[in-house]
Amino acid sequence: MQEHPPRNLGLDLVRATEAAALSAGRWMGLGKRDEADHFAAQAMAKALNTLDMDGRIVIGEEGKLDIHSSLDSGLNVGTGHGPQMDVVVDPIEGRNLLARGHPDAIAVAGVAPRGSMWSPTPAVYMEKIVVGHEAAQALVPQCMDAPAAWTLALIARVEKKEVQDLVVFVLDRPRHWDLIEEIRAAGARAMLRSDGDVAGALLAATPNSGVDVLIGVGGVPEGVIAACAVKAMGGAMLGRLAPQSVAEQAAVKAAGLNTTQVLTCNELVASDEIFFAATGITDGSLLSGVRYRGNWAKTESLVLRCETGSRRIITTEHRTA
Ligand code: FBP
Repeated sequence: MQEHPPRNLGLDLVRATEAAALSAGRWMGLGKRDEADHFAAQAMAKALNTLDMDGRIVIGEEGKLDIHSSLDSGLNVGTGHGPQMDVVVDPIEGRNLLARGHPDAIAVAGVAPRGSMWSPTPAVYMEKIVVGHEAAQALVPQCMDAPAAWTLALIARVEKKEVQDLVVFVLDRPRHWDLIEEIRAAGARAMLRSDGDVAGALLAATPNSGVDVLIGVGGVPEGVIAACAVKAMGGAMLGRLAPQSVAEQAAVKAAGLNTTQVLTCNELVASDEIFFAATGITDGSLLSGVRYRGNWAKTESLVLRCETGSRRIITTEHRTA
């Protein structure tokens, strides 16, 4: 019989995002994103290996660095005792943000029972739309192909707002230029960010955060991590593979993956036993970044548990030497 995770595995998981953030924060503004990622991944893996679970990384760090990471897909993490779990990680979500000392770089991880997480290897990119609990009923699969104005009108109606009141988080990329024009033409406001669509999804799913919806194409791993958090917060998300190059298209086709299917949160993570943790690395809209002082450091983290809907903000002081 499949063993169930302990009451709140998230309270252990957060030690892994804290460890990654404590390592990564030292690299803020140093312009060395790959070095930062390498050491943050090592720190996260070490912490994950103390968790009582038989975890397997379903979407990890491969492809980001030339060398193998301690968090590549397929690797086992945890003590090997306890429930069999899927694990999705990103020790530094927003590597460029960190390297440039910009806000909203975070360390994130999600865990759910084995086999429940969507892992469309070798796909790299997917389309995403994310809203919070209040607008969840507005997010119907047709939104994925409809003009942005249609989706924004639906969201505005259920949120009892005007379209001009809406703020849309969009990654600032040439592939989104038409989308950005559509958002503006509809009368909504586009919040263009250089990186970090997990933070964007967290903002879209958090009531009164100042962001109503995230729309656009971003990474698949970031999409699955975001789905863990969005589902745990009672928000809604749609996702669909969106290969961005001929090579990715060919790889996705060869793997027999469906690029037309629109997936909801329940298909992106098919379980309610989801745990999510995020720790701020640089200061951001939701979480403060790491503060260092002598032999001490302070972190701020978000811990979510889907089954109970609990949402904890945890401040931790760490002795670092
Ligand atoms: P990394 O931190 O892994 O570099 O990802 C940052 C990010 O902005 C993600 O938030 C987003 O999903 C993805 O990159 C978008 O990819 P690209 O930069 O190739 O458009």
